[in-house]
Amino acid sequence: MSTLRTGPHDVRLVEHFERLYLQHPPIDPRSVDFTVRRPRELQERYGAVLAYLARVELEVERNVLELDTVLPNAPDVDRIFYRDVWAPQEERHGVILDAVTVQIGERSAMPDLGSVSTKLKVLGVLGHLDTIQDLTPMLYYLTGMTTERSAVVAYNHLYDGLIALDETAVAETAIAPIRRQEPGHYAFYQLSARRLWSELSGWQRYLVRWLRSQSFAPVGANDERQKAAFGLVLNRLDIDQDLDGFAAQVIRAERELLWAHRQGLKVPSYVTRALREAVELAALDAPATLKSGHRGAFVARSAPRRHEQAPGRSTCWRSGRQKLWQVSSSSYEPTRSSCERSMAHRGEGHACNASGDATIPGRSSSGRFSTRSPS
Ligand SMILES: [Fe+2]
Ligand SMILES: [Fe+2]
Repeated sequence: MSTLRTGPHDVRLVEHFERLYLQHPPIDPRSVDFTVRRPRELQERYGAVLAYLARVELEVERNVLELDTVLPNAPDVDRIFYRDVWAPQEERHGVILDAVTVQIGERSAMPDLGSVSTKLKVLGVLGHLDTIQDLTPMLYYLTGMTTERSAVVAYNHLYDGLIALDETAVAETAIAPIRRQEPGHYAFYQLSARRLWSELSGWQRYLVRWLRSQSFAPVGANDERQKAAFGLVLNRLDIDQDLDGFAAQVIRAERELLWAHRQGLKVPSYVTRALREAVELAALDAPATLKSGHRGAFVARSAPRRHEQAPGRSTCWRSGRQKLWQVSSSSYEPTRSSCERSMAHRGEGHACNASGDATIPGRSSSGRFSTRSPS
């Protein structure tokens, strides 16, 4: 069976991510002003948020491995999007956010870059079966929609919070450019989800609803500790004061697609359940946070426990050894290894040019993408 979907939807998708790439190239960390006026206050207020977002953004590298696994028959447009447009942008978000967290005294992120779970591997094997091969892409699009919409809302809250703290340098040169790139990702997943949903049969839709209700989880929250950390993010951004409103925002497109027949349903229960669980776990985790010697806790809106790495050290997430960047008081100096890690290590077809930007397979000299698979 051909893996190349053709038709007007693909043209729109390809045009969409051409625009994403050309108008929103991966952010150059050298364009960011890392000046922080009051690092202690910023750490207490948003250290946990920045650390969580940095980890999740950096884990895009593992997400690409997962997608290669669970989408063995991925349409070419999807593969080019997630490998060559989405991942490079998200990775730079992570690099920048991690540099900010180090700047305020947090420890550098320790993202999980390589573990693809057995569950996903099984899903990948099942994805070869004709009868269910459309279900995994559908779940991927739904997850993408929720994740990207959550990111938009989170960055909006974070931006406003930083402005309120008078941390305008980071707000305007780091968070603002990052949040400008998230809606483009959301639009890609939404276009894809609407296209595929319209092609699914009744029983496939039923199965998607069931699988989604069983597998929904907040972005980056794969175990109890990470769920608690996510709950703390909601707390620090004041999102927990209106969880239902947040849930309605991030799930709107999914509700319209999957649950249109349930008139009056604003938020599927699996979403509110997951968000409430995260906030409750964060509240339960607060005494341990206090005991560990960190300032404040859940209610006092302080940082969560951090991982083991020494403050101020930035090391290669792949090897855990190689230094990638040096953060001075207001600047970012990428090293060659940073460039290599950021782009080239993802495999064939990626290369860094003199400015550290990536070249993209499947993109012609005219700057346009082809819908053929990267060779
Ligand atoms: Fe991002
Ligand atoms: Fe994104």
